[in-house]
Amino acid sequence: MWELYFEKSLILLILGWHIQFSETTYPWLEQVARQEDLTLGCENLSSTYRQMPNVSQLSHILVDHVHKLLYCYVPKVACTNWKRVMMVLTGQSNVTSLVSIPSNLAHANSSTVRLSDLSKEEAHKILREYTLFLIARHPFERLLSAYRNKFEDNITSSKYFQARYGKHIIKKYRPKASDDDLNSGANVSFPEFITFLLNEGVETNEHWTPIFNLCFPCALNYTFIGHYETMAQDAKTILDMVDAPPLVFPVTRAGRTRDRLRDYFQQLSIFNIEHLYKKYFLDFKLFRYGLEDLLGYELA
Ligand SMILES: *[C@@H]1O[C@H](CO)[C@@H](O)[C@H](O)[C@H]1NC(C)=O
Ligand SMILES: *[C@@H]1O[C@H](CO)[C@@H](O)[C@H](O)[C@H]1NC(C)=O
Ligand SMILES: *[C@@H]1O[C@H](CO)[C@@H](O)[C@H](O)[C@H]1NC(C)=O
Ligand SMILES: *[C@@H]1O[C@H](CO)[C@@H](O)[C@H](O)[C@H]1NC(C)=O
Ligand SMILES: *[C@@H]1O[C@H](CO)[C@@H](O)[C@H](O)[C@H]1NC(C)=O
Ligand SMILES: *[C@@H]1O[C@H](CO)[C@@H](O)[C@H](O)[C@H]1NC(C)=O
Ligand SMILES: *[C@@H]1O[C@H](CO)[C@@H](O)[C@H](O)[C@H]1NC(C)=O
Repeated sequence: MWELYFEKSLILLILGWHIQFSETTYPWLEQVARQEDLTLGCENLSSTYRQMPNVSQLSHILVDHVHKLLYCYVPKVACTNWKRVMMVLTGQSNVTSLVSIPSNLAHANSSTVRLSDLSKEEAHKILREYTLFLIARHPFERLLSAYRNKFEDNITSSKYFQARYGKHIIKKYRPKASDDDLNSGANVSFPEFITFLLNEGVETNEHWTPIFNLCFPCALNYTFIGHYETMAQDAKTILDMVDAPPLVFPVTRAGRTRDRLRDYFQQLSIFNIEHLYKKYFLDFKLFRYGLEDLLGYELA
């Protein structure tokens, strides 16, 4: 354990040195702790969890050959802005202000090369040589953010979710649904959404699929683990690491999702919260998140 700690510290110190350690105030000890929790958490899992995925499963990893940078995008974790960054880094866009890239363009499959587009040999070579990072977020906050964005917001992109999932959820999980609700699929409640996830699985859409299943953190060697909570600082550190041109990472207005977490989760039974926790267990454990804030205690 101490040996491992020492080894990681040393690596990160060297890394810190490389990016002009003296100039940066990045809290490397926090990064060491994140890496250590990930390594120890993964070592504890059976080898199937650490198995190298097929290249076709690596469709969430975006490739920047210019800066030798790989980003595993996780929906609902500032991924639109990071996709914009990747477009600028790879020369797909020349804008000076990142937010001027329309979000539908940033999300287009063609905006950036994906690791799954490459041959197995090339993908493995790149994984060994490039800087690989992801940004994690509290699993329940991410889930709530997805629910609010897709089922509460009255925006064009939520229409797809209401038609694709909303109608189904209301039909299946609301005993006496009105015809209006059945036809629009628009007002799925949070408990209904959670019942759907618990019954039909959390991998039904990338917006609520656990990070573990999108990014394979125990099979791939992540160079850097960012957190949503420290997004601006982490973005700067990552961009410095690969000598990216000066880019101002858009600071998204701190959402109110965290404050709302309690309000929404209070609508669920403790049984369902525990059940849901088990579904996102790896994301909680591997990325240092807990339920203390929400419940006042941790689930074992
Ligand atoms: C490893 O698993 C055991 C039991 O399953 C648990 O007690 C221990 O805390 C875990 N260690 C880490 C680092 O997660
Ligand atoms: C990965 O590839 C192997 C061999 O090509 C195949 O048997 C397996 O089903 C694939 N797994 C997935 C999840 O696609
Ligand atoms: C970006 O600018 C360069 C030089 O001005 C130009 O050659 C390139 O086509 C531009 N790329 C895009 C995507 O507009
Ligand atoms: C984008 O790529 C994903 C994963 O490869 C695929 O499932 C999806 O259908 C693609 N979307 C479009 C519009 O091509
Ligand atoms: C990750 O690092 C270990 C140890 O250096 C190495 O054995 C393994 O092949 C690497 N995995 C990938 C996917 O590059
Ligand atoms: C959603 O927006 C449309 C117009 O874009 C409007 O007609 C509709 O009444 C709105 N629905 C709700 C529930 O606010
Ligand atoms: C859904 O919306 C309809 C009208 O827009 C309303 O009558 C109904 O109570 C709503 N149901 C829920 C569960 O919010």
